[in-house]
Amino acid sequence: MLLRPLRVVLMLAISITPLRTLASTPTRTFDLAPRAACTTVSPDPPGFLEGEQINWSAGFYEPGLGACGIVNTEDDFIVAMSHIVYDAYPGFTGTNCNPICNRPITVAFQGKSVQVTVTDDCLVCGSNEMQLSPAAFAQLADLSEGLIQVDWSWAD
Ligand SMILES: *[C@@H]1O[C@H](CO)[C@@H](O)[C@H](O)[C@H]1NC(C)=O
Repeated sequence: MLLRPLRVVLMLAISITPLRTLASTPTRTFDLAPRAACTTVSPDPPGFLEGEQINWSAGFYEPGLGACGIVNTEDDFIVAMSHIVYDAYPGFTGTNCNPICNRPITVAFQGKSVQVTVTDDCLVCGSNEMQLSPAAFAQLADLSEGLIQVDWSWAD
């Protein structure tokens, strides 16, 4: 229950933060309410980003409690997918477990590749962007590179 103090602090912070500030801050309301982790793996919806996706930007970030309700660390092989992709994923209503959760993708960069699982959305990402865990990014490039151009495809 490491998360509980964080949640309380977050709620306190929000109660003293003007609404206007909140609206412009990419705060995930998801984090504010306890919710069961998404555990199922949904089948690939035909026609959604099928085939090799070329030249996406991939950075890395510090994972925590992700949008799928799953807590990850920097050592997990996970990806925070662009919120534009995450939100548009077929079957996602905004409140249910997003069917994108737990789907594996293979990310390739200059002859190297790594398989990661989608467990989070990336709120600061554009449409062709994602953020990997540090462990996954390190399989492709040195962390000092910061941002790399990758290709990816669903791995299931
Ligand atoms: C790949 O994407 C980057 C960043 O968006 C862009 O600068 C570059 O021109 C693109 N490369 C190709 C081959 O499309």
